[in-house]
Amino acid sequence: MANNIYLIGFMGVGKSAVAKELHKKLALPLIEMDQEIVDRQGMEISEIFAQHGEAFFRDLESGLICEIAKGDGAIVSCGGGAVLRKENVELMQQSGMVVLLTAKPETILDRVKGFSHRPLLEGKMNVDAIRELMEQRKPAYEDACQYFVPTDGKLPAEIADGIIALRELHGNP
Ligand code: S3P
Repeated sequence: MANNIYLIGFMGVGKSAVAKELHKKLALPLIEMDQEIVDRQGMEISEIFAQHGEAFFRDLESGLICEIAKGDGAIVSCGGGAVLRKENVELMQQSGMVVLLTAKPETILDRVKGFSHRPLLEGKMNVDAIRELMEQRKPAYEDACQYFVPTDGKLPAEIADGIIALRELHGNP
């Protein structure tokens, strides 16, 4: 079934908050990829990276996307790096709509500072480092997404309403 809504984008763009709103408004199950991986492994993301390395984490992400793609439809809040593998993106596009959330580096910094569970931002909690990583990721996000939604200055509920309108256009009312 191809009615998943995949929210992709950089850490701190608001995927989790918007996914919760979509879950409430559409009554579809919610899958928070990072949380699912943490629950299954019994370890925090930073511990998984430290003990097993990033490639191991990416394998867990890919495995989870395979499962989700075969499922009955859900709101999926993807980890920020879930689009780095082409095969993940293909599965997402075949099994739902892929929506890119974006925000300015300043907005991202405001949302992520004070949290320590993102190993890729360790020692990089500043606008320049965030901008640099965002630029590296930009082609992967833009290639993967079918829809693009800026989030700066918007509430999660408003963003969710916009995505619901897009979903009607996409053909999954
Ligand atoms: C990552 C983003 C994180 C998490 C991991 C790696 C990334 O998820 O999956 O720390 O590579 O961008 P969020 O985007 O939910 O913070």
